[in-house]
Amino acid sequence: MDSFLVRGGNPLHGEVSVSGAKNAALPILCASLLTADPVRVGNVPRLRDINTCLRLLGSMGVQCFWHGENELALRAEEISEPIASYDLVKTMRASILVLGPLVARFGEASVSLPGGCAIGQRPVDQHIKGLQAMGAEIHIEKGYIHAKAKRLKGARIVTDMVTVTGTENLMMAAALADGTTVIENAAREPEVVDLAKMLLKMGAQIEGIGTDTITVQGVDKLNGCDYTVMPDRIEAGTFLCAVAACGGDIVLNNADAPSMDATLEKLRAAGLSIDVEGQRVRARMAGRPKAVGARTAPFPGFATDMQAQLMAVNCVADGTAVINETIFENRFMHVQELVRLGAHIEIEGHTAIVKGVPQLDGATVMATDLRASAGLVIAALAAKDETRIDRIYHLDRGYDRMEEKLRKLGADVKRVSE
Ligand code: EPU
Repeated sequence: MDSFLVRGGNPLHGEVSVSGAKNAALPILCASLLTADPVRVGNVPRLRDINTCLRLLGSMGVQCFWHGENELALRAEEISEPIASYDLVKTMRASILVLGPLVARFGEASVSLPGGCAIGQRPVDQHIKGLQAMGAEIHIEKGYIHAKAKRLKGARIVTDMVTVTGTENLMMAAALADGTTVIENAAREPEVVDLAKMLLKMGAQIEGIGTDTITVQGVDKLNGCDYTVMPDRIEAGTFLCAVAACGGDIVLNNADAPSMDATLEKLRAAGLSIDVEGQRVRARMAGRPKAVGARTAPFPGFATDMQAQLMAVNCVADGTAVINETIFENRFMHVQELVRLGAHIEIEGHTAIVKGVPQLDGATVMATDLRASAGLVIAALAAKDETRIDRIYHLDRGYDRMEEKLRKLGADVKRVSE
């Protein structure tokens, strides 16, 4: 199992390119199931979760080939079996994204129920409820969701909470349904918008993209398309947090600043100077960050996927910050690890109170989930001596060559394998 050895204390200087967004690429790859035609997807990040998704699609008979570093050719002309097995779903919950497309195009699907995970229970009841409203017959047996429908029918669906993959699954299903589907309380995340734009290119009829009411007029057939995945706003935000914590002057190329408003606002309040010029974002930090609190919320609020990274900045900030996690019930697993690095953090329910210290110490810590590991990397970069971060495979799920990019910025990061 790989670990990172990070020798902290270097300010960051230089330029890096932001990769394609994991959470846009995953639903976009699953959308290839909606058509028999070839689909080409560009700007696909090289990640463990993308490989898992390709294994999943491949296991059903979808042809998937890399063309060059970041382009994929996919073709789901026919599939052998509409099944997502437990082995794949347990390594990546986003596998649930095949459920909607499979029922919509092939009339049936068996997808393993994702279990709980490191950040919370994460049920998929809204995905199921929405598909049932569209006429799917669903039963759960031996840990699998079995769904059947001759043809899904348009319906009005109001989700109980804002759900990102739930909205994506229902939007994909509705694209091939008979009639009009209205999804109310829909997620407005930029990744949902990116998927919707790809579906439009495939011939889907969707209105209200980027709003909380999405209307989909189902069509009989979708066609293939070429689509380029949007830049990863969470990866970009992670680099910005790193420079806020360590100081320095960096440029992010291929960044999508409009999707990062809430993060940019927090980091500006922390003292980071940020200049945006198209897809180029320059960030400069002199001195210690100021403490800045946050409350996670669906887009356009502050993303739960940035919470651990902002907490790491607050660990070395001047002042005390209150961070409230409202999306997932157990997304503070990084706190005990940050405390091992010398951070002062108290947890009261869903709130973390972070009292900044002038400097963190190095220690051995353990990554528990993807964004927690990104928070630990930032804290380690700001610590005064060497930190070892174990179980770095969590980071590899969602960050494309993180250590290479950090080294390009002058950080002292090594990957070690045992
Ligand atoms: N929820 C339910 N029932 C459902 C669906 C969701 O109770 O049927 C709850 C969840 O348990 C959670 C809340 O609703 O408390 C929101 O969850 P959501 O469904 O929006 O999360 P998700 O779609 O499973 C995506 C991202 C996550 C990101 C969240 C929130 C992908 C592949 N994953 O998950 O990304 O944290 O939205 O923005 O898009 C990550 O990249 O590290 C990551 C975890």
